Amino acid sequence: MWTWKRWLKRSSVTAEQVKSNGSIPSHIAIIMDGNGRWAKRRGLPRSAGHRSGMKNVKHIAQAANKIGVDVLTLYTFSTENWKRPQDEVDYLMKLPEQFFEIEIKELEENNVQVQMIGDMEGLPDHTLKPIQQSIERTKNNTGMILNFAVNYGSRTEMVAAIKQLAKKVKEEEMELEQINEEYVSLHLQTKDLPDPDLLIRTSGEQRISNFLLWQLAYTEFSFSPLYWPDYKEQHLYEAIEQFQTRGRRYGGL
Ligand code: IPE
Ligand code: IPE
Ligand code: MG
Repeated sequence: MWTWKRWLKRSSVTAEQVKSNGSIPSHIAIIMDGNGRWAKRRGLPRSAGHRSGMKNVKHIAQAANKIGVDVLTLYTFSTENWKRPQDEVDYLMKLPEQFFEIEIKELEENNVQVQMIGDMEGLPDHTLKPIQQSIERTKNNTGMILNFAVNYGSRTEMVAAIKQLAKKVKEEEMELEQINEEYVSLHLQTKDLPDPDLLIRTSGEQRISNFLLWQLAYTEFSFSPLYWPDYKEQHLYEAIEQFQTRGRRYGGL
């Protein structure tokens, strides 16, 4: 019988193995879910789960960097997460400051470029500033892009793109006929990034929760029953190993 305990015990795959097995996904996107349940299982407050989840970001970013992933996009706060109790939202809004204070030096040294997608205007200063400072400090790095989706919602992103395109047509900057898939992609916040090759969601939920709806059109999915704080390097490598066995057909044969 399949259980999460057996999943945990599966023999681990190493970085060397995944690198030699086949192609490494250029862009991996992760819905880091299950922090609250991780804490609940331990009789701890939800905030303890978020703190533990934040610490795990470093391990997974390092693991992805080690094998040559070009872009790692992490869903950290959705436009719908504002619905949560105020104290939880307040706690989540403090995490970027804590994260970058501890990690920025190492990210800089590892040649990682920090980027962000999401609605910046909706974020308090103490959340946005450390992110912007980290983006600035790492902007000349040439290694993996560590892209945080903060206050991100795919529908909001698409509405903004539609408005920009409509404005350009209205102001006769472009013809209606010029709008095509490429043009739409170029008006999304991910315009400089390739579409994700692999989407991982932890915690056993199997839904997208308003994440990168346009960009995931041909992405391979990997759902893990593990809560985010328990999702380790070996699990990432197992997901990639699985990905390497898939035949991506893009509608062809
Ligand atoms: C993911 O964990 C983190 C955020 C959404 C901010 P959750 O907080 O959603 O944890 P669960 O799903 O309630 O266990
Ligand atoms: C998705 O998780 C958002 C993040 C991981 C940041 P949620 O926990 O908010 O998603 P739902 O509510 O289960 O769909
Ligand atoms: Mg959740």
